[in-house]
Amino acid sequence: MSLVNVLSARKTYPLGDTWIEALRGVDLTIAEGEFVAVWGPSGSGKSTLCHLIGVIDQPTAGRVEFDGVDVLSLSDDARSDLRNRKIGFVFQNFNLVPVLSALENVQLPLQMLGVTDSGSRKLALEMLEKVGLADHASHWPKKLSGGQRQRVAIARALINRPVVIVADEPTANLDSENAQRIIDLMRSLNREFRTSFVFSTHDERLLASVDRKVHLQDGLITEDVRVTPA
Ligand SMILES: Nc1ncnc2c1ncn2[C@@H]1O[C@H](COP(=O)(O)OP(=O)(O)OP(=O)(O)O)[C@@H](O)[C@H]1O
Ligand SMILES: [Mg+2]
Repeated sequence: MSLVNVLSARKTYPLGDTWIEALRGVDLTIAEGEFVAVWGPSGSGKSTLCHLIGVIDQPTAGRVEFDGVDVLSLSDDARSDLRNRKIGFVFQNFNLVPVLSALENVQLPLQMLGVTDSGSRKLALEMLEKVGLADHASHWPKKLSGGQRQRVAIARALINRPVVIVADEPTANLDSENAQRIIDLMRSLNREFRTSFVFSTHDERLLASVDRKVHLQDGLITEDVRVTPA
């Protein structure tokens, strides 16, 4: 069943007295359990599209449906609630809270949903174990490597068991070994939980690991191919 539907989406940003068309009419459907990469050159609209799919931003024209519901028809509160419960977002620069430990960072989304401290600690520890960082639970982000920070960010994105995780260039700040590790981790979580993953990347090597590649160029999808597993 389709989870996210992007329909004729356009996004324009004001620039001085003119406009920039970041997306110029994009149609994309993401189904349950899919593992999709959005790729294309710098400025092609990858981040903009990730923000629409992750309900962080809204299109200027066209619409985005989540579970069949037009996201724009929701109140701000309902939209936040949708984000908190169903969507995980992973940023290029990790976006961890520097004064919180790895464990506390992972607990945050659960606390926002009102889960007790002891309950959220237990779940967050389990999730850190999944990403191979149980022994780093009390570390502050600045004591972790880039790859470890990104694994904490993925654990945080997964803690609410979202139906989809959107990751905007999750490997851009990592060396190729750590980048591959992050992709492998996302893949195994995709298989274990059937969480859909949509991530953007510049890196053609990473595209070898996905089921589907969506190519963006100048704000338009120029190619959308499903890759048969080897
Ligand atoms: N907040 C904004 N205000 C104005 N213009 C923006 C804004 N965000 C993006 N743009 C413009 O929209 C276009 C698409 O940007 P976007 O960030 O989606 O590209 P991208 O494919 O993610 O690029 P990169 O690979 O460099 O991250 C670019 O021309 C960019 O300059
Ligand atoms: Mg970008």
